[in-house]
Amino acid sequence: MKPLSILLILGCIGLHHATAQVNYSEDIAPIIYNNCTSCHRPGEIAPFSLTNYNEVAAWGTMLKYVTEIKYMPPWKPDRNYSTFVGEKGLTEQEIKLIAEWVDAGTPQGDPNLEPPLPNFPTGSQLGTPDLVLEMSEDYFIEGNNQDDYRVFVLPTGLAEDKEIAAIEFRPGNTRAVHHALLAYETDGLAAARDAQSATYGYESFGDFGVPVQGTFTGYTPGIQSVFFPEGIGTTLPKGSDLLVQVHYAPLATNETDRSKVNIFYKKGNDSISREVERLPATPFDLDGGFLSFNIAPNTVRTFHGTKELTEDISLMSVYPHMHYLGKKWDLYALTPSGDTINIVRINDWDFNWQGAYTFDRMKKIPSGSVIHVWGTYDNTSNNPFNPNNPPARVRWGESTTDEMYLVGMTYVPYRNGDENIVMGQGTTTHIEDVFNSTESRIYLPFPNPANDYVVMSYYLDKPQTINIEILDSKGALVKSIVKEQRFTTGNHKLEFEVNELPAGLYTLSLNNTSLKLTRPLVITK
Ligand code: HEC
Repeated sequence: MKPLSILLILGCIGLHHATAQVNYSEDIAPIIYNNCTSCHRPGEIAPFSLTNYNEVAAWGTMLKYVTEIKYMPPWKPDRNYSTFVGEKGLTEQEIKLIAEWVDAGTPQGDPNLEPPLPNFPTGSQLGTPDLVLEMSEDYFIEGNNQDDYRVFVLPTGLAEDKEIAAIEFRPGNTRAVHHALLAYETDGLAAARDAQSATYGYESFGDFGVPVQGTFTGYTPGIQSVFFPEGIGTTLPKGSDLLVQVHYAPLATNETDRSKVNIFYKKGNDSISREVERLPATPFDLDGGFLSFNIAPNTVRTFHGTKELTEDISLMSVYPHMHYLGKKWDLYALTPSGDTINIVRINDWDFNWQGAYTFDRMKKIPSGSVIHVWGTYDNTSNNPFNPNNPPARVRWGESTTDEMYLVGMTYVPYRNGDENIVMGQGTTTHIEDVFNSTESRIYLPFPNPANDYVVMSYYLDKPQTINIEILDSKGALVKSIVKEQRFTTGNHKLEFEVNELPAGLYTLSLNNTSLKLTRPLVITK
């Protein structure tokens, strides 16, 4: 692969680089295949495919546009504000490269240099599940171009309480399933509701339509599944029902879906000493109290609520939720010493691309801190998603024409060292969730040969403390990337600079007392 940065430098200072012209095979295909094709391929959620030169070139001007305005790839949280596992987004360099390629008339280059399409996993991203809960029948989705929000009840059949290490939703029909939320309950209320009608599942727009005991991270296309860190997890009670609320996107043709949920139990020495706890922000926390949550027609309104912490916590995930009037979220903690800890910022809320986000590391928030939650709603006719025409007064509720101000957060009481636990690296997007390993390994670094930066991905089969180092050809340490840090089981990604290293052959080493993994790395200048 050609070093991208040379091209960019030439591009920036306006030199004509006839010999190294930006082209599809070498420059654009890796960006598209790693950031777009997971959704843009036959049978997936996006309406057209981006799997070869002709398909990509045909969308040229549109690709330049949607990447410049950062509409694609879809990722709502502000990446400069906080970092989450599996986050998506192109670098400024990649966006420029696409624009440059489109402006140059989408040249193909040498087809022999085009990288192969990644191998997209169909089963689990995490290994072999201990329990698979599948919808018991096919659900029929009518091709009427309408959204469909449906709750399905999956009985766990558990004879005893089970400690859960990970849970992942796998869509049955990826063309139809837009996103899914997961929860559990033990009172049989959802099952009773399902039994009221003959069709499978029941309709519920905003949430599960019944009280639930707990929730799990939901599903959006391209999400990275994660294991809970060692000693941390959720206990699924015996006899509980798992609830999945699936949003089926508007479709022109009839489809069916039978999705499933993979469940992984805690194993070996890993058992739960800290249950995942939930901290919801609701209108009860608002400055004006619950009843202040109503939005007059033709107004843009911001609500502010607070939560005060009475113990040190390690925040693990955040799930902001509002409906069609929603515009913005801003969440942060102010510590007693006056520091600000960013949680999540969403500048252009889109109901269709909501998600639950896991921090790349546990976020320590000290006792006495106040979490500030700001949510902004646009109830004017300038809001193209406003369900009321003309705009009407809107109050709290579950239906499409009601609104919500709800943030689900998960945490555990803080313990020393939590801030060193890496739940997954979210800082890069060059490699999609395309790996499917069950034993510890380093995946092929990218780009290789590298010039100024390297993206490294690896899988760990159990939680452990590791070092990541670059060694020279004689085996001597030339750069330490990670020193004695503890990582969870699962896939991890790191991006680091290699600007300062001279051209040559190096070894990338991931090691600790019991593990020695290496990969060759070539650096060119
Ligand atoms: C998570 C899934 C996903 C990923 C990743 C993704 N797309 Fe999309 N894309 C969609 C869906 C769904 C639509 C159609 C609905 C919409 O426009 O929101 C779409 C629509 C588009 C459109 C048409 C927009 C329009 O208004 O008609 C373009 C162009 C596009 N995507 C390009 C890209 C490019 C380029 C990338 C990678 C940089 C990318 N997409 C990554 C899901 C995705």
